[in-house]
Amino acid sequence: MSRTVVRTMTGALALAAATAVIPLVSPATAVADSIIIGGTPAHVADSPWVVALSSRDRFGGTRAGQFCGGVVVEPKKVLTAAHCLSREALGTDVGQVSDLRIISGRDELNGTGGKEIPVSGTWVNPGFDAATNGGDVAVLTLSEALPEQDTIPMAESGDSAYRAGTAATVYGWGDTTGYGDYASSLRSAGVSIMPDSSCEQAYPGGRTGAYDASSMLCAGEPEGGYDACQGDSGGPLVAQGRLVGLVSWGNGCGRAGSPGVYTRISAAIGWMTAAD
Ligand code: ARG
Repeated sequence: MSRTVVRTMTGALALAAATAVIPLVSPATAVADSIIIGGTPAHVADSPWVVALSSRDRFGGTRAGQFCGGVVVEPKKVLTAAHCLSREALGTDVGQVSDLRIISGRDELNGTGGKEIPVSGTWVNPGFDAATNGGDVAVLTLSEALPEQDTIPMAESGDSAYRAGTAATVYGWGDTTGYGDYASSLRSAGVSIMPDSSCEQAYPGGRTGAYDASSMLCAGEPEGGYDACQGDSGGPLVAQGRLVGLVSWGNGCGRAGSPGVYTRISAAIGWMTAAD
């Protein structure tokens, strides 16, 4: 199918292995300036709940095996995107990945700061639909607890942080250009939460995907230029100090009229509660 960008962890990862990578970013027109367009360096000291998902075994050691983002919501629980743990993304069943870890407290993937914590359990939302990207959430259980101060609260349904026009920030180590330029250091970009009507208009279904307001939210800027991209999946979208979304999909990266689409955290809370 041609919605490549939507779920092409695989392509991105193949590229990642071959090239160098960076984070959040931008549009085709901005290539020359890629590293600055849209995103700026971010620091885990200010956002300790942002973590990288890693498997050197699956993705090689150049960027510490980073392949997706995640966010710490309890000392031993990390949320990420379900599609990050798919066979399509990992090339094998998640249960077969023996060195699945999260990297916490480290801005620079090639550095030695922070810690790497093995994942001892995974829950993938059984309602995840790879064809639509609906229900795109998974929970990782850590083998060692992180400090309570490293967690971020999840915004429940009705939280003002979901209101259209709210300023939000997305974090990650993904592609900074849309051409496989993966970041080695954490970056973040400011985006605005968009009205569901604009998201529906941008993604009416068909080639570029369908937006579902009950399980997704979308964010960006009308002119494009600020967005998440490949490799950022599963990472946090934060507004008013609370977690509102997880990077899920989009049509290209940072294009005008094609905002980034995120898993709606209030919906994810419902799916996770149902599983308890
Ligand atoms: N599916 C991508 C990933 O696995 C994330 C794409 C997000 N795209 C966007 N334009 N916001 O890393």
